[in-house]
Amino acid sequence: MIIAFNHVTKVYEKNWKALNDVHFIINSGEFIFLTGPSGAGKTTILKLIYMDERPDTGEVLISFNKDLTYRSGNTPLSKIQLLRRKLGIVFQDFKLLPDRNIFENVAFALRVAGMPNLKLKKRVYEVLASTGIAHKALDFPHQLSGGEQQRVSIARALANEPFIILADEPTGNLDNNTAWEIIRIFQDINASGTTICMATHNKELIDTLPYRHLTLKQGGLVNRDII
Ligand SMILES: Nc1ncnc2c1ncn2[C@@H]1O[C@H](COP(=O)(O)OP(=O)(O)OP(=O)(O)O)[C@@H](O)[C@H]1O
Ligand SMILES: [Mg+2]
Repeated sequence: MIIAFNHVTKVYEKNWKALNDVHFIINSGEFIFLTGPSGAGKTTILKLIYMDERPDTGEVLISFNKDLTYRSGNTPLSKIQLLRRKLGIVFQDFKLLPDRNIFENVAFALRVAGMPNLKLKKRVYEVLASTGIAHKALDFPHQLSGGEQQRVSIARALANEPFIILADEPTGNLDNNTAWEIIRIFQDINASGTTICMATHNKELIDTLPYRHLTLKQGGLVNRDII
């Protein structure tokens, strides 16, 4: 698997390039930090990867092998939905369904994908256990702390065995200790071979951990040397 941004420009509003000639590659198995000030374009990059947005010029390419490549320009929505099943997305504000318990929050995507019940139950408990939150399976989101809710949302992202986790400020609402717990979960996931791409402002995480950064400033990649 490889994700390639080929001279990507994204314009939401006239005369303002949210991304300007962004060019990089993410390789299979990497742990990547996407950094830069507010408004620099981090979320836009993640949206381009899950093809919620398309570039105005340039191309985003997600390639599994020569026979299975998704291109931003010519992939129809039906294929984009298949692509999204192969990636896991984690948000700052968790985005759990408030009226469903933790088990159902994780089960939801698997049901949509047509997984049979017995297999589904096993898989849900497996991923909840892997993020350390299986004991809360029958609780509702409002009964959980922020850190616990983020464990659930990571479990949900893992359910379909994604090739990449895209995380948008996943520790933004959490205290420092909890942020580190979440990072350790991502490190375990990464150790099992899943690529992680995490947008973050958290300087301590970025400076302490040995991962590659893609640093954005006003829509441009600052550290072009690391491509
Ligand atoms: N849907 C949209 N319509 C118009 N402008 C947008 C839209 N989404 C993002 N932008 C603009 O694009 C630029 C990049 O936004 P983006 O959300 O990617 O930044 P970010 O780095 O994720 O910021 P933050 O750290 O605050 O989350 C900003 O100038 C923003 O105002
Ligand atoms: Mg953002």
